[in-house]
Formats: sequence, C-alpha cells, structure tokens
Amino acid sequence: MADTDNLKDTKEYFLDIPMKAAQSNVRGASALDWGMQNRLSRIFQPGSGKTVMLAVDHGYFQGPTAGLERVDVTIVPLLQNADALMCTRGILRSTIPASLQSGVVLRASGGPSILKELSNEHIAVDMDDAARLNVSAVAVQVYIGGEFESQSVHNMTRLVDAGLGRGIPVLGVTAVGKDMVRDARYFRLACRICAELGAQFVKTYYVDEGFETVTASCPVPVVMAGGKKLPELDALTMAYRAVQEGAAGVDMGRNIFQSDAPLAMIQAVNKVVHERMKPEHAYELYQTLQREQAGRPV
Ligand code: 5RP
Repeated sequence: MADTDNLKDTKEYFLDIPMKAAQSNVRGASALDWGMQNRLSRIFQPGSGKTVMLAVDHGYFQGPTAGLERVDVTIVPLLQNADALMCTRGILRSTIPASLQSGVVLRASGGPSILKELSNEHIAVDMDDAARLNVSAVAVQVYIGGEFESQSVHNMTRLVDAGLGRGIPVLGVTAVGKDMVRDARYFRLACRICAELGAQFVKTYYVDEGFETVTASCPVPVVMAGGKKLPELDALTMAYRAVQEGAAGVDMGRNIFQSDAPLAMIQAVNKVVHERMKPEHAYELYQTLQREQAGRPV
C-alpha cells in the first residue's frame, strides 16, 4: 500500500504564469498525435528544427553501391553525426547497432531493381514491423508523372493510413524518372501532392531556380535530397542554399559516403544545416577535419 502519512500540502500553482500549450517546431505537425510528434523530434532537432539525414538505402534497388559495400566499416562510424539514418530493414537488423541514438527513417517501398522500370514499386514493409523496429518514420518513393504514378501514390496513402494508426510518420520521396523534367514547377507539384495526401514530410531535389516556391507551397517540411556526387564545396553550397530557401534540412547519401572524407563531410554538413555556416567556411572546416582525421598536420 502507498505511504499516505504526512502528505505535503500542494501550494505552487504559479498563478501569474499562463499555462503553456506545447507547440511543435516541425512545420504542419502541431495537430499530430503526441507519439508522431515525438518521432518527428527524433529526426528534426528541437533546437534548429532541422535535420541532417544520412541516406544509405541505395541497395534496395541497386545492390552494393560504391561506398556502401561494407556498411559496418564505412557508415557505422558516421552515425553519431546523423540526426537520422535512412536505410532498409535488412541493413538495420543485420548491421546497425541497436544502441543507435539517431532516428531511423525506414525504406518501406521497393520491388524493381535497376534492371527494370523503377516506378513499379510496392509497399515493402508492414507497419507492424516498422513499429517493432521502433523507427521514427518510413519512406516511400512517389513517382509523379512516372509510368506507375498512381500505384506509387497508392503505396504512400496506404502507408500514411497505417502510420496514423501507430503514430509513425511517412516521408514521401519525390522520385524523378530518367525522362522527367527537374524544375521547380515539377517539384512543387510532386511535393504538394505528397503533403496533400498525408505525408508528414517530403524529400525532394534542389533546383537552382525557384526552390523557395517548392518549400513555400508545401505545408510540411521539405528535406533536400543529395543526388549524384558533387565536389564537396558544391554539395555544401547546395545544402546551404536549400536551407536558406526554406528546406528543413538535408537527406544526403553519395555526397557524404562517397566523399574523400565522409566523417569530415557530414560534420561540415551539420554546421551548414544547424548553424547556417556559409559554404566557404564549411568547406574550410571540411578540409581541416579531413587533414586531422587523416592524421596529417593541420
Ligand atoms: C532516391 C533515394 C535513394 O535511395 C537515396 O536515399 C538517395 O540518396 P543520394 O541521392 O543522396 O545518394 O531516396 O530517391
């Protein structure tokens, strides 16, 4: 039985302090359930409201990718610098330590390999398994304008329904086919469709012209996709511009793990995203860290 002797009288009601309503700093998230907001806060840092996601899910359609041949050797040492890791459940269960402190964004669509029509994807993970893995979100490819556009949108909406039932957010990834135009008009369309149909955040490519209209017209956070490997200064510049133009962070793969110095690169990306460090300074930092980490004099 609980000890109820000598209970202290209550008195600290702080009558002069208005009761605070908890507000999310994630765009569009304030009306979501507590569990979903809590999961989003494991992706988007509560301070900056931004994220550095490390994407290593490439194997789900292209097998062992350069830089990902041995995830245990090349990626695990980077993890403490990632707010969230985007990966498949195969890599998560086999290779990622369960003591991971970063959020996990689980690849939940798949089917075709690079040998086939990529837009012909299906849902590849049951939401119960995503819950079992304690992931912070699931990610699904959405091929607006692609051959299997409607099927990929349906994959997303089914995951959104399942996610709402369990408090697991969905990341809509706007996928571009070989022949699709990559401009602001296209990405406005693709991002808005994902958000309208329930994705709690969206991943899309940066475009030099009009990216701010893509972020402005999307009611949920837009995370910039990394894309093909660029020289480090160019990749840092792209990340800087994206954040300046309204992105809630980045989800970068090859531009980090195919860098000459992946650890230095992800550290520099963090400075750009969370502290708005100018790309030139972040590049200097990258070079300094690269030398330090290689054991050379700075
Ligand atoms: C494609 C994806 C990829 O699987 C991956 O995450 C891409 O990362 P990056 O282009 O930065 O190497 O989501 O849309």
